Amino acid sequence: MTRPTSVQVTEVGTRDGFQAESQFVPTATKVRLINELIAAGIPRIEFSSFVSPRAIPQLSDAVDVLAGIDRSHGTTLAALVPNPRGAARAAEAGVDQMVVFISASESHNQKNVNRSIDESLSGLDEIMRIASIDGVDMHGAIPTSFGCPFEGNVPLDNLGKVVASYRDAGIKSIGLGDTTGMATPTLVTDTCRYLQDRFPDIRIVLHFHNTRGIGLCNVMAGLDEGIDAYESAFGGLGGCPFAPGATGNICTEDLVFLLHEMGIETGVDIRALCSIARDVEGVIGRELPGQVMKAGLREDIYKMDEGATAVG
Ligand code: COA
Ligand code: ZN
Repeated sequence: MTRPTSVQVTEVGTRDGFQAESQFVPTATKVRLINELIAAGIPRIEFSSFVSPRAIPQLSDAVDVLAGIDRSHGTTLAALVPNPRGAARAAEAGVDQMVVFISASESHNQKNVNRSIDESLSGLDEIMRIASIDGVDMHGAIPTSFGCPFEGNVPLDNLGKVVASYRDAGIKSIGLGDTTGMATPTLVTDTCRYLQDRFPDIRIVLHFHNTRGIGLCNVMAGLDEGIDAYESAFGGLGGCPFAPGATGNICTEDLVFLLHEMGIETGVDIRALCSIARDVEGVIGRELPGQVMKAGLREDIYKMDEGATAVG
């Protein structure tokens, strides 16, 4: 399989990132960061969730956030919906895309949305019906696609079952979520091949967390399978509150740096991304794991009189 020449980068920092923070990031700050991401050329942003405000209080302002976003650039604004209630709220708010999410593992689905996979699936048709009234685009996410913190390995056939249900419901864009960073390059290769063989018409989007430090290695494996869409968070923020041990997403600036250095286009201004990530550090009040925002780009070289000289 040939590597793609361009990749769609989705920013999930204000959703996956801020949901993992104990503090509530003010609505105006979320809007400012999202508008900066749009100006930086990010083509798709998962900006928030229309979930229960008791489950994720950090994202209870989704309606107000969307109202403040500059929508003149055509950036796809996506949001999570867990049930028909969330779909109705998201449709009324005017999202571009609803992201339904059903885990590949039974235990994580139970912890995350308080119901079984089959119960979640039984609500899917109603969500699709609500979305279709306003012609809202759909994306199907699958947390724990590469392993579950409660069950360990997730058999490919279990993942395939959720993908088949999404496909049957009419969803063509499917995100494989590596909720607690259990993916490995080998597993990514095997999973992509398994799904591409059986579901040639779906577009696979990869959503990695860097929990075990191999997030970008997994991106490399995805690129080798021709996957051209990846999700990441500014500064490497992120994590699911309902998955023990979940830590940061792969970092958007580091991902874009890797892609650009490989000659793969993203349409994104990496310097603007680094500046946004530093802004997020200030908002959150701690150092974030992103590396390129600290090291700079390869062309950012130093003058000879900068730094120490080793004199014996
Ligand atoms: N938006 C806003 N409120 C919602 C809602 C939605 N989409 N869905 C349910 N609620 C409200 C109900 O109105 C009810 O409120 P009330 O008690 O004031 O009447 C309350 O939440 C409980 O509703 P219920 O249908 O019994 O839900 P639940 O308690 O079984 O929780 C979910 C199920 C799906 C709503 C909840 O688990 C959830 O929001 N999970 C999201 C998890 C998530 O985002 N994880 C991170 C992404 S991987
Ligand atoms: Zn995630």
